[in-house]
Amino acid sequence: MSNPVLTAVAWPYANGPRHIGHVSGFGVPSDVFSRYMRMAGHKVLMVSGTDEHGTPIQVQADKENATPQATVDKYARQIGGDLQGLGLSYDLFTRTTTGNHYKVVQDLFSALWRNGYVVPKTQLGAISPSTGRTLPDRYIEGTCPICGYESARGDQCDNCGNQLDPADLKNPRSKINGEVPEFVETEHLFLDLPSFAGALGTFLGSRQEWRPNVLKFSQNLLDDLKPRAITRDLDWGVPIPLDGWRDKPMKRFYVWFDAVIGYLSASVEWARRSGNDDAWREFWTNPDAQGYYFMGKDNIVFHSLIWPSLLLGQNGAGDKGGEPGAFGTLNLPTEVVSSEFLKMSGAKFSTSRGTVIYVHDFLREFGPDSLRYFISVAGPETQDVDFTWEEFVRRTNFELANEWGNLVNRSISMAHKNVGAIPNPTALTADDEALKAQSRAAFDTVGGLLRHSRFKQAASEAMRVVSAANKYISDQEPWKRKDDPARRDTILHTALQVVQDANTMLTPFLPHASQKIHEALGGTGVWAAQPEQQDVEDLDRPGQINPILTGDYAGEQAKWESTPIEVGRPIEKPSPLFTKLDPKLGETGPEWAPVID
Ligand code: MF3
Ligand code: ZN
Repeated sequence: MSNPVLTAVAWPYANGPRHIGHVSGFGVPSDVFSRYMRMAGHKVLMVSGTDEHGTPIQVQADKENATPQATVDKYARQIGGDLQGLGLSYDLFTRTTTGNHYKVVQDLFSALWRNGYVVPKTQLGAISPSTGRTLPDRYIEGTCPICGYESARGDQCDNCGNQLDPADLKNPRSKINGEVPEFVETEHLFLDLPSFAGALGTFLGSRQEWRPNVLKFSQNLLDDLKPRAITRDLDWGVPIPLDGWRDKPMKRFYVWFDAVIGYLSASVEWARRSGNDDAWREFWTNPDAQGYYFMGKDNIVFHSLIWPSLLLGQNGAGDKGGEPGAFGTLNLPTEVVSSEFLKMSGAKFSTSRGTVIYVHDFLREFGPDSLRYFISVAGPETQDVDFTWEEFVRRTNFELANEWGNLVNRSISMAHKNVGAIPNPTALTADDEALKAQSRAAFDTVGGLLRHSRFKQAASEAMRVVSAANKYISDQEPWKRKDDPARRDTILHTALQVVQDANTMLTPFLPHASQKIHEALGGTGVWAAQPEQQDVEDLDRPGQINPILTGDYAGEQAKWESTPIEVGRPIEKPSPLFTKLDPKLGETGPEWAPVID
């Protein structure tokens, strides 16, 4: 049996609808990967949810004059809708404000605490000199110590993406009244990162297959590990289950501490909802299981160092030893797959700066597959890329419409018109054999690339088969074979078999179109299942309703192999798959996201 695969997808903050920059980092790549792995016969558990605590939520709630709860309730639903619309096949997309998540976070913390990996220490915290009250991180602004950006926030720099501590800022000032905050000592809990240095070094040393930027970046940080605060002076977050902390309204876990534990809590919730409370273990404590984590590059450190440290501490496997906690011995990540940034005209996509293309606008106008394709072939897989409408139009028109759509359309139309069914092949020529062999061989090539998250190359290799098939049809000219229907039918059969193969290989990228093509070839049943959004009651908090995404993807699905098409199966006249876009769109952009020079 092939190994179970956990696909752990970064949790978007529930502080606004998603833009295409977000989903190009964590969303589409993780889904293409998971769909492929399922088709290749792996049991896959793909989990994530909305990240609903901490400063980013507080800031948005303040902006909207709403409570954090009302804010996350609204955006959890919207974000779920964005991801569902893109066809992201989460087994469970949940949220961090569930009773289950709180319990898993606290249980994991308790194991870290018992094993001695958490130490209380005093730290400098900001207070407002005029009121004497705690000044939360989000109300402090100053110059970023890393990149020099002058309006960095106390918790993070929007320019370079680094996470900050307010005490690190140069020229700190209160956003409320401009005064210079005073820093006083306040007690916090720290994760003792240095006691994991050895184990982390071994872990990273055994991960040579990672994208080099991720591995080098993480290894560089090893030399300089310091204890890191995992609590904050904030009232919105998971309470700390220790005497003397539990009841303090202004002490909560730091949002990143609870969020990364979400991978585990969502897996536990999925198991509980499936009717087998232990089903998550197959993906976490089975040594043969693999875990792939998908995110944008600003999240690397949390996945390559902090999360592995929490796992090691829970397992009792850092320098201080210890016993495994309630979860048993949990697997460390197999791979941390990080994307770079999708930018617009050189600027990182930023809601605050107004350069933003929302997923829901995009889907309404262009549907999911053209965006999925664009991100896969032209997205920020290994370097920052600029999104341009011009490139989007070019990829959609020349690759999806002219190459793939046209191949499907003309081969099925000709077969429909001449035969009305999948034609019967007779003697195959060397050309026929060569094309079929090329297409069969591509399964291993494309599959091997997808397994290693090389999406661009995988898509190009699949499209190479499409081009070869187009060239084959042009060379063979089946429309000129009126006098030799046997040869015509052999050509059409060969072309349709390659359409079938290419459709299989493109399914992870274009799951919606692939279902239609499957049907156009006379197929029935589910080829590529889609997620649904559901309202479910919280498992531990009666009356709380959570919007989730879930689906049954493996019950009935395409397999990663060349499936022979069935001679004689009736086929209908196909309807066009991909609409060509007006080239003017490339110059102007749509009116809801115009190009500005
Ligand atoms: N919410 C974070 C962000 O958008 C990502 C959290 S990933 C998790 O940058 F692992 F912490 F959940
Ligand atoms: Zn910065």
